[in-house]
Amino acid sequence: MSKKATVITYGCQMNVNESAKIKKIFENMGYDITENIEESDLIFLNTCTVREGAATQIYGKLGEIKPIKAKRGTIVGVTGCFAQEQGVKLAKKFPLIDIVMGNQNIGGIPNAVEKIVSGETKHVIATDNEDELPARIDADFESTKMASLPIMYGCNNFCTYCIVPYVRGRERSVPMEQLLDEIKVYVQKGYKEIMLLGQNVNSYGKEFKNGDNFAKLLDEICKLEGDFLVRFTSPHPRDFTDDVIEVIAKNPKIARAIHMPLQSGNTKVLKDMNRGYTKEDYIALAEKVKKIVPDAFLTTDIIVGFPGETEEEFLDTLDVVRKVRFGTAYMFMYSQREGTKAATMEGQIEDSVKKDRLHRLMDLQNSISKEISESYEGNEERVLVEGPSRKNKNVLSGRTSSGKLVLFEGDESLVGEFVNIKVTDCKTWTLFGEIIK
Ligand code: 5AD
Ligand code: SF4
Repeated sequence: MSKKATVITYGCQMNVNESAKIKKIFENMGYDITENIEESDLIFLNTCTVREGAATQIYGKLGEIKPIKAKRGTIVGVTGCFAQEQGVKLAKKFPLIDIVMGNQNIGGIPNAVEKIVSGETKHVIATDNEDELPARIDADFESTKMASLPIMYGCNNFCTYCIVPYVRGRERSVPMEQLLDEIKVYVQKGYKEIMLLGQNVNSYGKEFKNGDNFAKLLDEICKLEGDFLVRFTSPHPRDFTDDVIEVIAKNPKIARAIHMPLQSGNTKVLKDMNRGYTKEDYIALAEKVKKIVPDAFLTTDIIVGFPGETEEEFLDTLDVVRKVRFGTAYMFMYSQREGTKAATMEGQIEDSVKKDRLHRLMDLQNSISKEISESYEGNEERVLVEGPSRKNKNVLSGRTSSGKLVLFEGDESLVGEFVNIKVTDCKTWTLFGEIIK
């Protein structure tokens, strides 16, 4: 019987991409991929450490794996940011872990597994040298027509709440020619969506001396022949330069969902966060984007309860949310990350206050999201069909260029194709429609 392997992914799109590569590595090693850990001989957890909850989830999963390992001798590996951050500490705390591997060492997985299988070592611990450009590895995007690729790694911003610069290292970009070659292959293979990834994606190319930058990269990608959509995540508002906004405006191949992490709407809090913009700068930028790209659908990330945030300062966040009218917002309670500057700041906020602010923010955002959803009713939208919907096999789900989820009846053979949909109904997050010819 063939051996089976499982990859469990936590966290961001970059982890999703790296898991797709790990799956491909496992297949090349002769494993069949399964989602059922009960029947798995090799399990890798691809972890996240950006907020506290992530660690708790990982501990829970390791607890589930323990009896399975006891029964079938499953090899257990952890990679991703939590593994990179914790290193050898993690293996000491959980003896069931055989391999701890930094996300940039995933190419070394076959070797590490081989060492465990042969009994050469009891544990393999390999965290990264974070400042290297990792090897390009093939990914398995399964049957989807959506590919993703990292265009840059790391972050130099050191927002004071964020652990990412400590685990993902300094910014380094992949040469443009190489990216264009890779994307050309994806498009030729029939991929319909190309997601560009980076911890600070729009600072792409800052270290290059030849003038290549994010705007130029987007422009060159759009010149490639074929019917496809380009998305990118996650950008920083400060690097949304005019040339980037203009390239988006003139290229319908670039998705209309534009992510612009706000984090806070208050200038003092933004300064304490080291974000590099004020409340007014942010609002002006959002207005500019909406003016130049009128069909832009702005999305954002917001943190409530940053150390020292007063009620009045929080009200500024609500004010920006009201003024900018984001289509979607990812909203978080501030989470203290050891090793970051904010973790030792005075004025840490009680959980009950954070929760209260989060709920008030969510209520406001939900009502705005609903209004924006309602404005789609009657629209004709071009939608990339992603698959049968989770609840009903006869219903397909897809996404508009602005990232809105749409459900409609249709044949499964349409998965991976663009279809035109007339929007007939909506809920806060979901649109409903029918295919039009
Ligand atoms: N606490 C809460 N949210 C955080 N994020 C990053 N670090 C923290 C933290 N310590 C959020 C930010 C970021 C998103 C990916 O996660 O909003 O944009
Ligand atoms: Fe973290 Fe800020 Fe870098 Fe984003 S830009 S990864 S929030 S430090």
